Amino acid sequence: MTDRSETETVAFDVIDGIAWVRFNRPEKRNCMSPKLNRQMMRVLDELEYRDDVGVLVLSGEGTAWSAGMDLKEYFRENEAKGLGATRGAQREAYGWWRRLRWYHKPTIAMINGWCFGGGYGPLFGCDLAFAAEEATFGLSEINWGILPGGGASKVIVELTGFRRAMYHAMMGENIDGKTAAEWGLVNEAVPLATLRDRVEQVAKVLLEKNPVALKATKDAIRRVREMTYDNAEDYLIRAQEAANFFDNDGRKQGIKQFIDDKTYKPGLGAYDKSKQNV
Ligand code: ACO
Repeated sequence: MTDRSETETVAFDVIDGIAWVRFNRPEKRNCMSPKLNRQMMRVLDELEYRDDVGVLVLSGEGTAWSAGMDLKEYFRENEAKGLGATRGAQREAYGWWRRLRWYHKPTIAMINGWCFGGGYGPLFGCDLAFAAEEATFGLSEINWGILPGGGASKVIVELTGFRRAMYHAMMGENIDGKTAAEWGLVNEAVPLATLRDRVEQVAKVLLEKNPVALKATKDAIRRVREMTYDNAEDYLIRAQEAANFFDNDGRKQGIKQFIDDKTYKPGLGAYDKSKQNV
């Protein structure tokens, strides 16, 4: 199939609390067209507050995670229409990556194959990232004559540091999943054959945690990166107090089950949240 309808550009299944969302243009190596960007936002909207979704995993159908932006449908066709169309297409793409960065549920990027250029936006958007050792990462922008935009320059320097970012962006050389893990682009690399199992294992651990605390935690880690120590200290006090508003019983149960009931040890695992008042 070469001409997918908009709704077919993203696939997903919800299984046992995990939403497995997939870029679904394998014949185009899952490059991001305006259609795909619009559909991904719809899918994120649909899944964000569903009670049967506790964790969202983003992967790709076929051999690619995502080959970046669609050079034809995102760049060339919009540039031909003028600046308004170009800005509109940027808003659609950047919009769902931003949505992902602040998503209500924990998110995991499962990088099964090619990951280029614009793909670094959703890669950074996900809280955690696990790659196949066989995956290929690259800032190929320089190879076709542009700078790494759409946040890609920001992502590489944030995740890897100045020298690696500069080399990666200027040389247009690819790295494999193992190197991506060494550089900090992803948490871990494992053989492709075991990638889904490893991601499922991580997702199941997250499903056991207090969801209000998880959202507060993931936002805190993103926010404090750009704060002074004093600002971070203050923000974290206020963020915890806001979390208490949504979940006043969780941490009290966490203390009770350890100190009074002695049914678990926080240093070794999570409290039983099924016993808390919701
Ligand atoms: N934009 C538009 N079409 C694409 C893209 C893309 N980013 N990536 C792949 N395709 C299309 C190809 O044109 C081809 O289409 P066709 O079947 O109509 O000819 C089809 O997808 C399959 O691609 P192949 O190149 O045949 O697949 P192969 O497995 O041999 O190579 C690879 C995969 C290495 C990912 C190659 O497709 C490629 O280099 N893609 C571009 C990667 C890139 O530089 N992306 C842009 C990054 S910069 C940015 O995102 C801003």
